[in-house]
Amino acid sequence: MNKNLKTEELKRILIVGSGGRENSIAWALSKNQSIEQIYVCPGNGGTANFEKCICLKPSSEDQKTIIDECQRLQINLVIIGPEVPLAEGLANKMRAARLTVFGPGKEGAQLEASKEWAKDLMIENNIPTAKYWSARSEEEALDILQKFNQPLVIKADGLAAGKGVTVCETLEQSKEAIKDIFSGKFGSAGNKVILEEKIEGPEVSIFALCDGEKLIVLPPAQDHKRLLDGDNGPNTGGMGAYAPALLINQQDIKDLTELVLLPTLNGLKKKKIKYIGVIYAGLMLTSTGPKVIEFNCRFGDPECQALMPLMGDEFASVLFACARGDLANAPKLSFKTHCSVCVVASSKGYPERPKKGDSININIESNPSLQVFHAGTTVDEFNNIITSGGRVLSVVAQGESFDKAFSLAYSNLKKINFEGMHFRNDIGYQVRNI
Ligand code: AMP
Ligand code: GLY
Repeated sequence: MNKNLKTEELKRILIVGSGGRENSIAWALSKNQSIEQIYVCPGNGGTANFEKCICLKPSSEDQKTIIDECQRLQINLVIIGPEVPLAEGLANKMRAARLTVFGPGKEGAQLEASKEWAKDLMIENNIPTAKYWSARSEEEALDILQKFNQPLVIKADGLAAGKGVTVCETLEQSKEAIKDIFSGKFGSAGNKVILEEKIEGPEVSIFALCDGEKLIVLPPAQDHKRLLDGDNGPNTGGMGAYAPALLINQQDIKDLTELVLLPTLNGLKKKKIKYIGVIYAGLMLTSTGPKVIEFNCRFGDPECQALMPLMGDEFASVLFACARGDLANAPKLSFKTHCSVCVVASSKGYPERPKKGDSININIESNPSLQVFHAGTTVDEFNNIITSGGRVLSVVAQGESFDKAFSLAYSNLKKINFEGMHFRNDIGYQVRNI
């Protein structure tokens, strides 16, 4: 690690990923005058809409090819967006090739990639979480369920694209969920099962940027996981978000830093893991205090899209400092005081069978408080933007109040259309007058 590198030397950034999260990070970094070029690999149909941002589509998705490209392009900072390449050890290989990377190595990414590993870390470090049991076979899991004799939350241990958790109302549902997992519904992610006591309360997510030693906490955000209004329908990757979430105040954030974030970073350090990247703690505020329901090893999507417009100009320098293990010498990260909101437009059939290939019309107003971040989009041979995934676009808006921000986002959603477009009308119901 070269501690003499100056922030001015951050000129070329490469972001790995293709979602709304990666586009919003690219947009936020593009505002920094000293950055010359931002590559998003592979990016999507909207990446190049932002100044200095272009898609990089190497000849292969092979990790070695991406690393070779980073070296050829003299990339100063790589940011790895999604959990899968992190869990597969892309950051380890990049660091071995002397690249400067924001994103944990394979060992640290277990925070998200193995729920059992994360639970053990929480127990070892007295981090509050729901009671749990783990099982390696269907029999063992059914046995635990029978002894407990109450419906439990059933979770596949590994990465399951946000679909591996079933919150059960009945014993029968818990049994079904266990059988599904061991019958291979989630592939090797279901080799182990976590059975968890069901807890209740509002949910909020907090994010810390870590350099292995120290951390900075971002404003809290609230996600909306269910597909339909009123928190109905199936779980999705997230249909909308807003920040800052008002459920917790500055003092709560300080308390949660002491209770959850610092013990997590210290627990990782005790395991000799230098964790560089985001610690995302999904919390439930229960009647007996906050409890962690999950950790992720990256920014949340779509929480990231709502958060990026709140980042001060120092954001690029702070990520670079984290990646160099040098947060102590980074400028203080400031946050804008606006309310920022994100509403996701998804395609017909999402999350089960998203329809692809429909052309998208976008006629939104030009307004510095409004952004459209593409996710499941691509450009066809006639240069039309078409749908290519489940969550298609994130419409993001800022305002001095949540009502104003949501009104800007929703009025512009009406100016976007594609076949079967769906969005929730009640994102932010917790903070809006609806
Ligand atoms: P996860 O993928 O771990 O974030 O879980 C998805 C959703 O399941 C969470 O956002 C919660 O709403 C719910 N959930 C997870 N664990 C529990 C639990 N122990 N008790 C109640 N709900 C839970
Ligand atoms: N929005 C939740 C996630 O990114 O996992």
